[in-house]
Amino acid sequence: MSRYFVTCARGLEAVTASEMLSFGATKADPVPGGVAVEGGQEVMYRANLWSRTANRVLQVLRSFPARNPDELYQGFHSFKWETFFRTANTFSVECTLGGRLNPQLNHSHYAKLRIKDAVVDRMREKSGGARPDVDVEDPDLPIVAYVRDGECTINLDASGGSLHERGYRLDGAFAPLKETLAAGLIELSGWNGREPFFDPMCGSGTLPIEAALKAGNVAPGLLRKRYPFQRWPDYHQELWDRLWSEAKAARSPVSEGLIFGADRSGRALLAAQENARNAGFGAREILFLKQEFASIQRPTEVPGVIVVNPPYGERLGDVEELAPLYKQMGDLFKQRFQGWRAYVFTGNLELAKHVGLRATRRVPLFNGPIECRLLEYKLY
Ligand SMILES: C[S@@+](CC[C@H](N)C(=O)[O-])C[C@H]1O[C@@H](n2cnc3c(N)ncnc32)[C@H](O)[C@@H]1O
Repeated sequence: MSRYFVTCARGLEAVTASEMLSFGATKADPVPGGVAVEGGQEVMYRANLWSRTANRVLQVLRSFPARNPDELYQGFHSFKWETFFRTANTFSVECTLGGRLNPQLNHSHYAKLRIKDAVVDRMREKSGGARPDVDVEDPDLPIVAYVRDGECTINLDASGGSLHERGYRLDGAFAPLKETLAAGLIELSGWNGREPFFDPMCGSGTLPIEAALKAGNVAPGLLRKRYPFQRWPDYHQELWDRLWSEAKAARSPVSEGLIFGADRSGRALLAAQENARNAGFGAREILFLKQEFASIQRPTEVPGVIVVNPPYGERLGDVEELAPLYKQMGDLFKQRFQGWRAYVFTGNLELAKHVGLRATRRVPLFNGPIECRLLEYKLY
């Protein structure tokens, strides 16, 4: 049984926790920004392969008091790193300081250097002089340290960077939603994968693509090439190969006429189509339409779910400029989408008021540092 800390967007903790329980975790406690998980190796493998909302799966190794740089060094130096890797392997160190900061330990860069020295010194002593190299791009052992209120937790990053980088998005020119946050919004909407799904301002297509991955029972982790845990001494290749094959076999066809995305920007739609293709979906699975919101129509007669992330601006004057679009959303949803449920994700509560419909639910969420809401409207 191991302990893991699974990070996710703030506001999605309960969604991520229920995913972890479905992967066989014996414990999954939501805490701000993540889930404290207990379970076997299979839970960690499944989380990397199947989680739609987790950003990173960290394996928790040890906690110890670290009120100053010496205690931090000692805590890392006394850890048996030689049982985790060899000097021919590479490692990296990431360190986040939080909570009440001790004046002696308040620079994360310095803390990181002390940790790196401790690991290198330990490995040198145990190997008769050889030392492992640091590799920040693709380390075998990505060490993640959290120091909070004088206590340090050592973790290993089993995911190797954020899982939101599924691998289907190639065009970085847009400011899209993170894939894991988009998937979380879809979970919160309660979309069942069989009723129609529509994002009328889809930008580079993240929401429709995440919807298609869910409808097609596609394990998002299949799109990634390799994971650090495959280079750890306790790697269970047979188990991973079995889970990987099961995940490949689980993929099912996405019905035609189920998932739709629209946007007024042709450039955004080209990116959306390319991203969808990279994820394995063509026009049969996701139909993208070039459309001004003002002329939006329901894409299918069967009622379904709208999830939309309209522009919400960050500058002064944006409210004035965008208010008419939010008002139009309220009006057109009500007139043209009777029987549907609409979910509007916005970082501007002032703008949200202009929708003018009564929200039946408001879920607080964070898009990075920006406090947002997912607003639910039932359209009668
Ligand atoms: C915040 S972005 C959506 C990003 C998207 N969720 C993604 O992950 O790429 C908002 C999108 O709304 C589109 N948009 C803004 N005003 C619109 C309008 N009046 N009609 C249609 N699309 C509009 C923009 O072109 C932009 O792509």
